[in-house]
Amino acid sequence: MGERAAIVGAGHTRFGALDDGPRLLLRRAVDAAFSSVDRGAERSSIDSAFLATLGFGGWQLGNSSAVLGEEAGVSGVPTTRVENACASGGFALRAAVEAVASGSSELALVAGVEKMTDLPNARRRYWLGVSGDTEWERLAGLTFAGVYGLIASRYLAEHRVGPEALAAVAVKNHENGALNPNAHFRKPIRPDQVAAAPRVADPLGLYDCCPVSDGAAAVLVVPAERARRYTDTPVYVEGVGAGSDALAVQERTDLTRFAATRRASEEAFRAAGCERGSVSFLEVHDCFTIAELLALEDLGFASPGGAGRMTLAGETQRRGRLPVNPDGGLKAKGHPIGATGVGQAYEAFCQLRGAAGARQVAGADRALTHNVGGAGATATVTILRAG
Ligand code: COA
Repeated sequence: MGERAAIVGAGHTRFGALDDGPRLLLRRAVDAAFSSVDRGAERSSIDSAFLATLGFGGWQLGNSSAVLGEEAGVSGVPTTRVENACASGGFALRAAVEAVASGSSELALVAGVEKMTDLPNARRRYWLGVSGDTEWERLAGLTFAGVYGLIASRYLAEHRVGPEALAAVAVKNHENGALNPNAHFRKPIRPDQVAAAPRVADPLGLYDCCPVSDGAAAVLVVPAERARRYTDTPVYVEGVGAGSDALAVQERTDLTRFAATRRASEEAFRAAGCERGSVSFLEVHDCFTIAELLALEDLGFASPGGAGRMTLAGETQRRGRLPVNPDGGLKAKGHPIGATGVGQAYEAFCQLRGAAGARQVAGADRALTHNVGGAGATATVTILRAG
């Protein structure tokens, strides 16, 4: 693709167990995105809007993109809901990038929202489970933690890696989250706490799991050649890639590699025309600690089995060779399903403009964001560059 789109504004609510409903969360994120545009953007100039959400949280609202139009103050423009489970945000961003790159839109709004804490546990498990396979997984009682637990067991055995590699992911992401005012968890944790935590789906314990969060995020996307009308420091989208795989993990040939991520990664790098070595930091989909290790390998930054060693060596820490999830990731920043992929773009926007505060990655000028739906059935990869 090569820089056919740019992000000129971004907003993010706090993620966590919040009192606000999804409408207010959306409004806050969108207002913040508009306020962040250096030379201002008119709401009347928005000509397309994309809403990423699994079900508008416990509301389970269909046709919910119209609500984005209302809350953003752009009622009347075409609005589209994008639902690809936890990858909804990445796919909504992709749709906006394609809309501006094709010339069909000149100012696109992308927003993601989820309200998850208003549901009782059993109903939430059922609701989340619909994003996985129903016949072989959900109805058999397998949760997402259960599926990722199976994947983690296989990974540790296949590569002779110990559970301390998973714990290192959790410790790092909690440390980063502690520096992020928008994070669900702002508490550092120690490896011994990870090891001693209650088991959720062996070998995954409490600290290996992302939490159940509410929250919203929004970004404004324009054609690359119009970006400097809005700001002197746009963030260019150099490449977007996407992929899919069988919904049920039993239909896949390999449990420890996500083909959807691999395909999305290859496509994004081909479009961006850059090398992996030129990427300053990654925002990857760490819904469970094992998912961060798989991501590093599937994205091409570590050899099979190598991500654990890389993490234990401290290479993925905020001041390491390749910082991963400087915002705390899904693990500590939180995972309000539809908001997650848009929140990753928000983080790239802040970091690449040197505006990430205490969690700033020194010298960041190129970012990769990676968003996964379910247990790897859908995925997007986006490569962004400082303008
Ligand atoms: N990481 C760290 N701490 C967590 C946590 C997490 N993921 N989830 C909850 N906690 C903490 C809470 O803050 C609370 O701490 P406190 O006692 O100091 O207040 C304590 O653990 C108990 O919280 P509670 O909400 O009762 O936990 P729970 O047992 O109901 O839920 C999980 C824990 C891991 C089961 C739940 O967070 C979960 O289901 N996560 C995965 C969500 C998911 O599958 N998303 C889709 C991914 S594909």
